[in-house]
Amino acid sequence: SSPAAGFLAARGVPAPVPPVVRPRRGRTTSAMRGLVAQTRLAPAQLAAPVFVREGISSPVPVEAMPGVVQHTLDSLRREATACAEAGIGAIVLFGVPQKRDAVGSGAWDGEGILNRGVAAVRAEVGDALVVCTDTCLDEFTSHGHCGILREHGPRAGEVDNDATLALYQAMAVAQAEAGAHMVSPSGMMDGQVAAIRAALDATGHEDVAILAYSAKYASAYYGPFREAVRSTLRGDRLTYQQDPANRREGLREALLDVAEGADIVMVKPAGPYLDVVAEVAAASPVPVAAYQVSGEYAMVEAAAARGWIERERVVMESVLGIVRAGASTVLTYWAREIAEGIGSRP
Ligand code: PBG
Repeated sequence: SSPAAGFLAARGVPAPVPPVVRPRRGRTTSAMRGLVAQTRLAPAQLAAPVFVREGISSPVPVEAMPGVVQHTLDSLRREATACAEAGIGAIVLFGVPQKRDAVGSGAWDGEGILNRGVAAVRAEVGDALVVCTDTCLDEFTSHGHCGILREHGPRAGEVDNDATLALYQAMAVAQAEAGAHMVSPSGMMDGQVAAIRAALDATGHEDVAILAYSAKYASAYYGPFREAVRSTLRGDRLTYQQDPANRREGLREALLDVAEGADIVMVKPAGPYLDVVAEVAAASPVPVAAYQVSGEYAMVEAAAARGWIERERVVMESVLGIVRAGASTVLTYWAREIAEGIGSRP
C-alpha cells in the first residue's frame, strides 16, 4: 500500500480509483513514442542563414553567436556544399559589405558582396539547395535603416516607404541575375512584395520565388545579428517593423503579402511569437516559415556554455516547437547541425 496510506486514511480520503484512460501507453518505449509523434523535423524543411563578408581572408567568428562566422567567398562555398550534403532545404545569404552609403547602392551592384556570394553558391550547389537572399537595405546603408531616408522637409530622417520600393526592385532583380532561386524582402515597407514581384516578372524572372518576411516584429532578439552584419543602426525600427504587442496585425500583414504574390510568408522572431505562427498557419493559403533569430540562438548557446541547460535537447525542442505551432519551414542557425544529427540517427 501507499506510503501515504496512513495519512490519507486518518483523514477519510478513499484510495484513488485506477484510471481507465491512460495516455501514458503512448509513451512507453522509444519505438512507441516515435510511432505516434505528431510533429517531426526533416532536414529538407530547414534553412540556414549565412553571412558573407567582403574583404576578409579567413572566416571571422561572430562573438555573440558562438559557432557562427562571417564567411569568405571560399568558406561560403564550402559551407553551401556541407548544407547540401546534410540535406537541408535552403541557404539564406546575408552580405556584409566593406563600404556602405546612404542609399545602399552595394545592394544592387552585381559585384556587391551579396550578389557575388549568390553566384558563388549557385555555381557550387546548382539546384541542390534553394538559394535565397535577404532583400533589404540595412546591411548596405551607412545609417543601418532598411530603407532610404527623407532628406528634406518636416519628415526629414524618416524612412521613405515609396522611394525605398524601387531600390528593393533593383536589389531583387540583381539577386535574380546573380542566380537566386528566391528573394526575401525583410524591410517591412508597405507594398514591397508587389513591387518586387512586378520587377522580377518584368525582367523574365517569373520563376524566382518570394519568401516574404510578413509578420516581422521590432524585436530586441535581433541584437546579435547587428554584430554579424556589422550594422550600427541609428535610431530604431519602430515606424516600420511591427509592435510586439500586436497579434492581429501579424495576420493582416501575412494575408496582404499573399495578395501581393508572396510564395511563402514568414513570422519573425519565431519562439516568442508562436501564437502568431499558429494564427498565420491556420489562415494562410501559402506555406508558412518562421525565423529563429540571432537572439534566440545566442540565449541557448550562452546558457548551455554555462552548463545551465542541456544544449542539444533545447536546440531540438526549440525548433520542434516552431514546427508544432504550424511553420513548415524554419530558418535557424542550427540548420546544418540539426540536419546532420537527424541524418546520423539509427
Ligand atoms: C534585416 C534583417 C534583420 C534580421 C534579418 N534580416 C535585422 C533587423 O531587422 O533588424 C535579423 C535576423 C536575426 O536576428 O537573426 N535585413
